[in-house]
Amino acid sequence: MTSKSIIRKAVFPVAGLGSRFLPATKAQPKEMLPIVDKPLIQYAVEEAVEAGITEMIFITGRNKRAIEDHFDKAYELEAELEAAGKANLLAMVREVIPKNVNCMYIRQPQALGLGHAVLCARPIVGDDPFAVLLADDFMQGEAGGPGVMAQMTAEFARERLSLLGVQDVPREHTRQYGIVSTGPYAERLEKVKAIVEKPAPDVAPSTLAVVGRYILTNDIFSCLEKIGKGAGGEIQLTDGIEALMQRETVLAYRYHGRRFDCGSKLGYLQASVELGLQHEETSAAFAEWLAKRTT
Ligand code: G1P
Repeated sequence: MTSKSIIRKAVFPVAGLGSRFLPATKAQPKEMLPIVDKPLIQYAVEEAVEAGITEMIFITGRNKRAIEDHFDKAYELEAELEAAGKANLLAMVREVIPKNVNCMYIRQPQALGLGHAVLCARPIVGDDPFAVLLADDFMQGEAGGPGVMAQMTAEFARERLSLLGVQDVPREHTRQYGIVSTGPYAERLEKVKAIVEKPAPDVAPSTLAVVGRYILTNDIFSCLEKIGKGAGGEIQLTDGIEALMQRETVLAYRYHGRRFDCGSKLGYLQASVELGLQHEETSAAFAEWLAKRTT
């Protein structure tokens, strides 16, 4: 799949302040918070790599240097590990990013919203359709199956239409998401009829929420250019998508797998427990400890 993927570019908006994780995020990006031993942003990049994406475009801001360093060569660390004969760790550090993958960084000078962050990627994305991944939505495909972005690039290859990853959420949570109302289209795909950013539960058009996985045609850029500030006084990707829907069909995709909202403390803890139970170094001992702890 890798070389045949039509989607080659992914945008990672990582300029957010991470205020929900203060003080942990006072001097480090929230995207560098680890789930067990790997930072959130690396899981998102790996999901994109699995989908055949090779051009990673990070929209960064102040205090985000650690992300650039993470995906760069670490000369001193590599030399130390080599000298100490720690071959496994050396390989792990070198393989953080595959050789055929390029990382690019654009500074978003002001935090003007997710739509503005995506618009910042325009000079690099050019005319191509592209993916957007929000690293604090940590996604896992079903066991043995493809990841969520790989599922979406496969759908895009068939449909050639913009796609939004969606899932049902409890009605009392609609205020945390872009919410879509939809009509029938195909299996797991629905045609988006309306989209609204963070509606109150009593006015939300449905409980189908957009999660942080998008594939967008490049018409989104001219839409984002035209919209003004929306919910929360920010330039919202949701409003750009609403404008895009006036021009072309946009689809909602009910992915296979599950999502952990690692932008919230509870979701972050749940992801840590799940991955702790999956990690080869910790799974057995952690499961035993958890079982004892609850009896
Ligand atoms: C953003 C988007 C929202 C989307 C959500 C998914 O909100 O604005 O439409 O549903 O990501 O996680 P945020 O979580 O950045 O507030």
